[in-house]
Amino acid sequence: MFDLIRIREESFVAGISHFDEIDSTNSCLLKQLEESSADGPLLVLAERQTAGRGRGSNQWWAANGALTFSLAVEANDLRPDQICKASLSTGLAVCQALERFVPAGDLALKWPNDVYLEGKKIAGILIERPASRSDFIVIGIGININNSMNDAPEDISSKAISLIDCIEIETDLTTVLIESLQQIESRLRSIRLGDSMLLDQWRAYCMLTGRSVTIDVYDKEISGVCTGIDGEGALLVKARDQVHRCIGGVVKSFQ
Ligand code: BTN
Repeated sequence: MFDLIRIREESFVAGISHFDEIDSTNSCLLKQLEESSADGPLLVLAERQTAGRGRGSNQWWAANGALTFSLAVEANDLRPDQICKASLSTGLAVCQALERFVPAGDLALKWPNDVYLEGKKIAGILIERPASRSDFIVIGIGININNSMNDAPEDISSKAISLIDCIEIETDLTTVLIESLQQIESRLRSIRLGDSMLLDQWRAYCMLTGRSVTIDVYDKEISGVCTGIDGEGALLVKARDQVHRCIGGVVKSFQ
């Protein structure tokens, strides 16, 4: 059970909707925004999510003990390049929030915003824009906390990890949520202030730099060596003698 009073007192959210069970916190929040003129930041929080959505056509598996939430923040003052940075920064925020619980852990970022622990995915982020409220972005975050991968289907457990699999004790979901919200608030403030440290910090956690990657960019596949991210947050992939700037896309494989 989440401690809603603590979340209200210790985070920047103005409204909280809490559900025991819901299909998708992102779908719920998008609907809420489209059907009302509510102001943000708004949080939708679920004890259990039954049909979590991932990027593209992916689904997000989350058993009991997972942390699944969506946050709506006003973004009408953000330029398109700052929206791209908001996506990267959310990954950075979650990564740094988790550091509090795995001090000796090996946390890293896979572009654009997947969080990895010990080489396996621990958190995924889906950012969407409500069709009729384009002044907002909805940031959906799923973090594997107390949902051990021992109970997950094999295709998921081979690629994913949960905090409990690493530290072997249960972690309070409210505390992880508050830490994540505080980090996100701080990163969004940095973007608005034009803080150049953000990308430097992101680069420090980038697990793809120097590795061979294959990325799907719209209708094209690019394979090459990742040379990092540029000042706008685009992934740089060197293939033969050409460096490709990938603004969007999905990293299909890396080694
Ligand atoms: C991905 O890695 O492809 C993104 C996964 C995002 C999952 C979260 S869980 C909370 C929120 N609600 C959803 O339906 N999806 C996001």
